[in-house]
Amino acid sequence: MAGSWNILAVCILFLASVLAVEPPILQPDEFPSDIELGSRVQILCYLKKGDLPVTFTWNKGGKPLLTNERITISSSDSFSSKLIIQSVVSEDVANYSCTGTNSAGSDSFTAALIVRAPPFWKQQPENTVQAIIATRTLIGCSVGGYPAPRVTWKIKNPSGSFTPVSRSYKMKVLDNGTLVINDVKETDSGTYLCQADNGVGEKLEKAVRLSVH
Ligand SMILES: *[C@@H]1O[C@H](CO)[C@@H](O)[C@H](O)[C@H]1NC(C)=O
Ligand SMILES: *[C@@H]1O[C@H](CO)[C@@H](O)[C@H](O)[C@H]1NC(C)=O
Repeated sequence: MAGSWNILAVCILFLASVLAVEPPILQPDEFPSDIELGSRVQILCYLKKGDLPVTFTWNKGGKPLLTNERITISSSDSFSSKLIIQSVVSEDVANYSCTGTNSAGSDSFTAALIVRAPPFWKQQPENTVQAIIATRTLIGCSVGGYPAPRVTWKIKNPSGSFTPVSRSYKMKVLDNGTLVINDVKETDSGTYLCQADNGVGEKLEKAVRLSVH
């Protein structure tokens, strides 16, 4: 009796070793670090170890990735899946993850798609702005870039150095970079400096002369 139990145990171990499926292990990939808007990018999800068949799924920001004419997922073999994004737009900036699953388990990795573009002028400030005394004056400084650049306005002191404009009833900087000066006075005449920076490439700056009449 004990002998037949032993034979059964050996048979079960043998079957288990034949049926044992190795869970997937993926080879993580990364997006290039110099992606610009309009770039074409691809990322590969590759089964480094583990048994087939493996199903690959892609997520964007934790939700299933929606494909379209611009965003495609393709597979040229049963052990990899490729995500291609044609002409990157700012909405594509996200964390993408690939998960490989077989009957024994799953593995996944996440890659961040980051777009970088140094600041550029959407509308370069004029050299001189004429303002009429006691009115509200707007000086534009419209920049683009990715991430969105921070715009700082500075005022030239008599000593020649520049002091950042502090938000007050008198002056404020709008989200679009425009400097607003309320109730302009002759003493507001002078040189103003617009600076834009987003940590990518060169800063932009432009001095504007305000003359009040
Ligand atoms: C991607 O994930 C990292 C780490 O969790 C997070 O800091 C970052 O904000 C995420 N990026 C985007 C675009 O959601
Ligand atoms: C910035 O915003 C102000 C207020 O909404 C607007 O008057 C001005 O035209 C804007 N400037 C630019 C360059 O978009």
